[in-house]
Amino acid sequence: MPQHIAIIMDGNGRWATERGLPRSEGHRAGARQLATVADAAARLGVQYLTLYAFSTENWRRPIAEVTALMGLLREFVDERLPELVERNIRLWTIGRTDDLPAPTRNALRKAIEATSHNTGITVTLALSYGGRAEIADAVTRLLAERAGDTRPVTEDDIRRHLYHPDLPDPELMIRTGGEHRLSNFLLWQLSYAELYVTPVYWPDFGEQQLREAIDAFSRRERRFGNVPAK
Ligand code: IPE
Ligand code: IPE
Ligand code: MG
Repeated sequence: MPQHIAIIMDGNGRWATERGLPRSEGHRAGARQLATVADAAARLGVQYLTLYAFSTENWRRPIAEVTALMGLLREFVDERLPELVERNIRLWTIGRTDDLPAPTRNALRKAIEATSHNTGITVTLALSYGGRAEIADAVTRLLAERAGDTRPVTEDDIRRHLYHPDLPDPELMIRTGGEHRLSNFLLWQLSYAELYVTPVYWPDFGEQQLREAIDAFSRRERRFGNVPAK
């Protein structure tokens, strides 16, 4: 069982368009699915679930879609907060969250605080997140700390300045919606993750699909550059 699963929740727009619905309805359905999948992951014993909800590149989308997404996110966090608390789920975020609109930021801050002592699964939402931005932000903080220190930068120096240094690397990365690309997700952390792509759109991805991904993961041979184990 992977300790940490990361998911690129893709396909909301296509899911809606195929049903003759506006894209925002796909995002609404996607938000519901997020809660379902987080519960399923917790029950299966996964300790960390990291979900790509909005990328640094998603700001390029039409303003109406961005506004709808930010509104949905605020609503979702507000509505689900009692459930997060009750189910012992800890909420974290990663990304340039200062760029989010104030109501969304405030709802997130409140939920992060209210769940900070929970001991169940940690659900991390990647928001205004980019893997390159994260590395650039880490280096910026590292340079500020080093002031004139010219020793070589180590991998651990970078890791310590990521958005959440306590987040372990994901062992499994799932992408829904069928695209075989990373789209700037967790570039540092995914270096040895097993990748699993399913054509299923995110609003149709549930416990069954999660189990299938974990089954596929359990059949992989992870070598980490070494030769196969005897
Ligand atoms: C993923 O679904 C959700 C976000 C990027 C916010 P999309 O909105 O990318 O859906 P498709 O890929 O257009 O179907
Ligand atoms: C990746 O999906 C970002 C999220 C799921 C939040 P996109 O739909 O933005 O990715 P591309 O544009 O297909 O690479
Ligand atoms: Mg997409």
